[in-house]
Amino acid sequence: MFITFEGIDGSGKSTQARQLADALRAEGRDAILTREPGGSPGAEEIRALVLQGEPERWSAQTELLLFTAARRDHLERTIAPALSAGRIVVCDRFADSTRMYQGLRGGLRAEVDALHRLMIGREPDLTFLIDIDAETGLARARGRKGAEERFEDFGLSLQQEMRAGFLALAAEFPKRFRIIDGMRPSAEIAAEILALSARALDARA
Ligand code: ADP
Ligand code: TYD
Repeated sequence: MFITFEGIDGSGKSTQARQLADALRAEGRDAILTREPGGSPGAEEIRALVLQGEPERWSAQTELLLFTAARRDHLERTIAPALSAGRIVVCDRFADSTRMYQGLRGGLRAEVDALHRLMIGREPDLTFLIDIDAETGLARARGRKGAEERFEDFGLSLQQEMRAGFLALAAEFPKRFRIIDGMRPSAEIAAEILALSARALDARA
């Protein structure tokens, strides 16, 4: 089973993805934790290219190609082998992030979908959208400053647009999306996500 976490920057995806992978392992399930962009050696190199340095370094189109190249490598080297071996894959961001950042913000949704069909062709089985308000997301993300902050630099209005976009995406793919209220303590969120995941896993068994 392939489980992804989506949401705006600072929504708590990394925190929750890590907790879910740990909790599944504690239940004796075989789960791996991975992330995008990245998740394989080649894709981590592309991550550095795309997230560090000058924000205007790449055009929206080039960025889309880089994210898709990273995803293809991640899929080939990490995700597909793990799923074939019967493992659970927990991934922090996946193609829905491209639909939002390059598709919605970059105005390239048709190109995003065409490339996805051509080069990726795989959707998650379950996607947790961690929903928080844009102000909180920005404050949390800024509290965690590092070299990779180019997307956060776009500020509050982008965060607001992205939040609404993610909610619309959940409505577009209602079968696999679960909207999670991310404004609660992280242990409470983690318990809800674990229960939903266990239910989905048991339904497939
Ligand atoms: P994302 O991966 O979505 O950008 P992170 O998991 O890195 O988000 O969380 C961003 C920041 O917010 C971190 O400092 C993290 O400790 C904090 N955080 C995560 N979840 C919560 C929560 N439920 N309540 C308060 N702070 C949180
Ligand atoms: P990430 O490390 O998950 O950032 P955060 O923890 O702040 O949420 O992702 C880095 C940035 O990459 C984030 O701003 C979203 C962006 N991104 C895209 O623009 N397109 C993509 O396809 C992916 C996977 C990420």
